Amino acid sequence: MTRDYSERLIVQEVAPRDGLQIEAKWVETADKIALIDGLSACGFTRIEAGSFVSPKAIPALRDGDAVFHGIRRAPGVVYVALVPNVKGAQRAVAAGADELNLVMSASQTHNRANMRMSCEASLDGFAEIVRITNISLNGTVATAFGCPFEGRIDENRVVSIVRSYREMGMEGITLADTTGMANPRQVERVVSRVLEHVPAAALTLHFHNTRGLGLANVLAAYDAGARRFDAALGGLGGCPFAPGASGNICTEDLVNMCDEMGIPTGIDLERLIALSRTLPALVGHEVPGQLAKAGRNSNLHPVPDYVRTI
Ligand code: COA
Ligand code: ZN
Repeated sequence: MTRDYSERLIVQEVAPRDGLQIEAKWVETADKIALIDGLSACGFTRIEAGSFVSPKAIPALRDGDAVFHGIRRAPGVVYVALVPNVKGAQRAVAAGADELNLVMSASQTHNRANMRMSCEASLDGFAEIVRITNISLNGTVATAFGCPFEGRIDENRVVSIVRSYREMGMEGITLADTTGMANPRQVERVVSRVLEHVPAAALTLHFHNTRGLGLANVLAAYDAGARRFDAALGGLGGCPFAPGASGNICTEDLVNMCDEMGIPTGIDLERLIALSRTLPALVGHEVPGQLAKAGRNSNLHPVPDYVRTI
């Protein structure tokens, strides 16, 4: 089968939000701003720059207001804020977010663990946010491919939440694999079904690499027609309220795969690698991403002397 890889794959960088939210070490506001400004120079068109949630729930991102006020706005970049409720929406709009990402889990149990409310209460809040704001809105279905508490998630439920989001007036939709439970066959099936209700330009896939299937899932989704993907620099990330959660797919690993396959992304991989190499000092530990350690294919090694003599 010949596949077409000529269409651009849009990467939304989420390290400043999904990446930093789970870090134990406090990252200074100025360092968060520098990270986002560095990402803005790499060619992204979308960056999730923070969240406006309870500071008790996610202390690592309690400075969202200062971060949004402090960043340099690169032209053409949409700076997104994750929001769980009306209070978060009001704070994010006041801080100057370009778009709100409203998150609810398909799993009632995970929504209660993460958002401390039922899915119905989340949806009521979102309806109120649609009513009171005049800003671009994206709806995320978390645990769309599996829940660490409930296990399998009914695909009909995922499609039905997507339809409710769209009917409410949210333009963008994200399907999130919160704890890396998706597999490529499932991804292809769910993405195909959701694309019957959402244009490809409005659909984002958010994969975690928890079980090593992240990039396989990206390709399955791309082959099914998806074009927008979340990824985190260095493969940082994870939901603190989902047991066993670990990093997002790693942005530079994803961009490298695209470069090698000829899929255009518009992202400067050299800059990205350089920025990724600053992460261990920022967060205080090694990060999962592989490309920044291995280097690109084109970084060839000198031939050892003994080989020359053979
Ligand atoms: N931003 C800042 N503070 C908020 C807030 C927000 N968006 N929403 C609520 N609060 C504050 C309230 O003002 C209240 O403060 P007080 O104790 O000083 O009076 C306190 O938090 C409790 O408010 P309540 O509405 O009862 O919230 P809750 O305790 O039921 O928690 C959420 C609900 C949604 C706020 C919380 O579960 C949350 O922030 N979850 C997000 C988790 C997350 O980000 N996960 C990873 C990304 S998916
Ligand atoms: Zn995530």
